[in-house]
Amino acid sequence: MLNQTDLRKKAAGEKAAEFIQDGMIIGLGSGSTVYWLLKKMGELVEQGLNIKGIPSSVRTEGWAKDFNISLTDFSEVQSLDIAIDGADEVDPHFNLIKGGGGSLLREKLVDAHAKQLIIIADESKLVQQLGKFPLPVEVVPFGWEVTAQKIAQLGAVPELRRREGEIFVSNNGNYILDCTFDVILNPQELHKQLKLLLGVVETGLFIDMTDMVIIGGDDVRILHKK
Ligand code: A5P
Repeated sequence: MLNQTDLRKKAAGEKAAEFIQDGMIIGLGSGSTVYWLLKKMGELVEQGLNIKGIPSSVRTEGWAKDFNISLTDFSEVQSLDIAIDGADEVDPHFNLIKGGGGSLLREKLVDAHAKQLIIIADESKLVQQLGKFPLPVEVVPFGWEVTAQKIAQLGAVPELRRREGEIFVSNNGNYILDCTFDVILNPQELHKQLKLLLGVVETGLFIDMTDMVIIGGDDVRILHKK
C-alpha cells in the first residue's frame, strides 16, 4: 500500500514519461521518484517505444534492466536529449540540492550533458531557500577528516555519512559528507567555494541546470523556468 508521498512521487514520475519521444537518449536519474518513471518507461518500451538510457547510479541501472530499458554510456553517446532526475530540495530559481541517495556526482555528469533537465519530486521538496536538507558533498576518502575541517570553516557542520554503522561509499568509491548549513544564502558562491577545497570531488548543489520541474501534490503541476 503506497502512502501519500509515494503516490505523489509516482504521479510525478509517470507524468515525466510523457516528455519522452521515440529515438531519444535519456539520462536516467536516481532515487525513489525516478523508480516510478522507469517503471512507466518499461511499459512504454513493451508497447514499442525505442529509447536508450544512461543510468546515474548502480541502483538505477538495476531497475532499468528489470524494466527492459536499453542502456548506453558516454563511450557511445556524448549528448543526451533529455535527463529526468529527482531532487532533495528545489528553490524558486530551480536550484537544487541532490545527493540524498549518494549519487550526486554521476547524476551531475548525466544531467549536465542533457539538452533538457526535468526534475520530478513530491511537493515537500519545494523550498523558498536551500539548506534545510544537509548538503551532500562527495569527498576523496584519503584525508576526509581535514577536508571536513575546511568545509566546517565555511559555516557547516559536516557529518560523515554512514549506513547501518558502516561508512557509506559512493558508486565512485568516495565518501559523502552531509553538511548542515541551515540556510544557504548564495548557492552559486557556496558551490564555488566548496569546489576549490582540496579533497572535494563534487557538491550536491545543482545550479542553473533545471529547465522544468514536475511536482506531485494534490494534483500534478508542471513548473517552467521563469
Ligand atoms: C540521489 O542521490 C538523489 O539526488 C535523489 O535524486 C534525491 O535524493 C531524490 O530522491 P527521492 O526521489 O527518493 O526523494
